[in-house]
Amino acid sequence: MTKHVLPEKHSDTFRSEIVEGLKAWQKKISSKWLYDDVGSHLFEAITELDAYYPTRTELGLLAKNARKYSRLPGARGAMVELGSGSSRKTNLLLDAFPDLSVYMPIDISANHLKEAADRVRRAHPALAVIPVSADFTQPLKQLPLLPELPVLVFFPGSTIGNFERSEAIQLLKNIKAAMPEASMVVGVDRPKKEEVLLKAYDDPAGVTAAFNRNLMQRVNRELGANFELSTFAHRAVWNSEDSRIEMHLESLEDQEVTVSGETFSFMKGETIHTENSHKYSEEAFTEIANEGGWRILDHDQDKRKPFSVYTLQAI
Ligand code: SAH
Ligand code: AVI
Repeated sequence: MTKHVLPEKHSDTFRSEIVEGLKAWQKKISSKWLYDDVGSHLFEAITELDAYYPTRTELGLLAKNARKYSRLPGARGAMVELGSGSSRKTNLLLDAFPDLSVYMPIDISANHLKEAADRVRRAHPALAVIPVSADFTQPLKQLPLLPELPVLVFFPGSTIGNFERSEAIQLLKNIKAAMPEASMVVGVDRPKKEEVLLKAYDDPAGVTAAFNRNLMQRVNRELGANFELSTFAHRAVWNSEDSRIEMHLESLEDQEVTVSGETFSFMKGETIHTENSHKYSEEAFTEIANEGGWRILDHDQDKRKPFSVYTLQAI
């Protein structure tokens, strides 16, 4: 059974966050809302694209280093995964961690989480699989963990890059507060050529565009809104000052959209900012980790398509 640490339905939070974000001068919607059932499946499709290098690069690093990570104390206790998605990367580690007793995937996309947890259970019948459907940006203290079990936090995908710097530091502090003895294996994407980044976030097949545009369909479905999809375009832009790719939905005309009974005006060219994907150098990520209360124990990297997997220990 899936544990719901936060209220089972995100609907109230979803409504208030969407409406508040659309009232801002730069309209915005948190990227965590990209992941309903459809969004989670579209993300899986993105990971199969040639243009989207992070997944296969990180899978390569995890396959190469799984035996090394299996020597971390948590590999004989509980693995807590943040933003577990399909748990595809996890399967690589689980094969190398025969002594792990608990796997606790945490994800906001409840159905996708349940399906992934069922697959892990079938492949590893001796493992206690405890999926937690929650927003991991909220304090994690209620996690049903046994204090005597050592913990390994697994945070792949460069999902930490989807947070602003200050939010990433706060998240690392929250993880440490909930699991003070833990070590962590975390994937972090690095800066690279702008053309490579733009192709990864605006792929020729249009899957990333569909992923971004699904957000409007979700708001239409769940909040009775009337976004006319053909009047908005997917945009991916490189923000060099903040070292991040941004996703936006750009209005192609002056128009009004009604969401949950409130009307929002868009000027032609105005955007809703829907995602940040920060690309952190080793120096930048080391600072964030340290400020969040963690020190770097180890660093595995792919230099061809720069991507890092760090092993951290709570300070
Ligand atoms: N770890 C997988 C999936 C990454 S996609 C991989 O590396 O391929 C990001 C995942 O994090 C999605 O499954 C999404 O549902 C989840 N997610 C995003 N924001 C979240 C939040 N605030 N709380 C919980 N899960 C979140
Ligand atoms: C989950 N996250 C790390 C992905 C990323 O690359 O920022 C989400 C994504 N957005 C567009 N493509 C993939």
